[in-house]
Amino acid sequence: MHSKIFQKILVLGTGGTIAGLADDPENSSDYKASQLGITDILSLSGVAHEQLEWRDVAQIDSKDMGPQVWRELLRALSDACDRSDVRAVVITHGTDTVEETAYLLHALGPWRKPLVLTCAMKPANAPDADGPVNLKDALALAQSEHIPSVSLVCAGHVHDPSRLQKVRTDQADAFSSGPRGALGRMVEGVWQPNVSLVPGIGYATPSLAYALATPVWPRVEWLTNHAGNVGNMVHALLAQQPHVQSPLRGLVVAATGAGTLSLGMEEALAKARESGVKVWVCSRTAWGEAAFHHPKDGGETIALSPAKACVALTLALMASDEKA
Ligand code: SIN
Repeated sequence: MHSKIFQKILVLGTGGTIAGLADDPENSSDYKASQLGITDILSLSGVAHEQLEWRDVAQIDSKDMGPQVWRELLRALSDACDRSDVRAVVITHGTDTVEETAYLLHALGPWRKPLVLTCAMKPANAPDADGPVNLKDALALAQSEHIPSVSLVCAGHVHDPSRLQKVRTDQADAFSSGPRGALGRMVEGVWQPNVSLVPGIGYATPSLAYALATPVWPRVEWLTNHAGNVGNMVHALLAQQPHVQSPLRGLVVAATGAGTLSLGMEEALAKARESGVKVWVCSRTAWGEAAFHHPKDGGETIALSPAKACVALTLALMASDEKA
């Protein structure tokens, strides 16, 4: 007879500060990310290894995260979801781009097993390393009932991938889910949910099989509107098009305020759209949305942060390629 108690948690390592080491642990702000594999992270964290299985999917500083490692991760998650002996998957990740990875997993879900991401702001050998507590919380969440399909655990908060942003670079509590708050908290290893509402996706996404079978994902760039912007970056990108191997397919524009663009930017984006580049407009403000933007002015609006909008537009382009 199959019982949940015998199900394992699969822990997948990708690198980051949680896998980082400082030459001098007393001066832990000077460190290198991604020096340890997941076996060492688990040992240093002092978590019980029974009912865990672990492996490294990658060992990188997450500034270098992108489709190549994402496909490895998606393949590992797809395999894990097919296994009856795996209850949930915990993924260790750098804080710098975990916003994108968490959002990608959210957009390609729901998954048949819960996926819990975690990270750290201090390297593994710092006296006040936060990785061990975050990892223990992530493992405890992964064993709890009624948890979100995809979440990030950091500093006791359980964040929603469709809202979370890294908002601090000097504190263990580096993430915020914005004015609506986090999905819940981990208090002494116990999951305490706040809100269970995770907004829908609102655009087409490709099948996981298609994302896995596509070696080169559509190229999307992110530009910002700002005082003095006359659209030169857009023109430069368009001028490059005939000369690059992977042409630009999508542009995410972090617009000013509630979706405004300078006149020069509007004109440049109109040219981009005419040449077949898909343009999505979001807001450059921390928690604002491009609510008042008119599509004719330069592109469709998307109520996501620019980092998430880049992932979303990549997926939307892949979905239309899959359909074609
Ligand atoms: C990284 O994102 O890989 C390095 C920074 C961090 O994890 O805090």
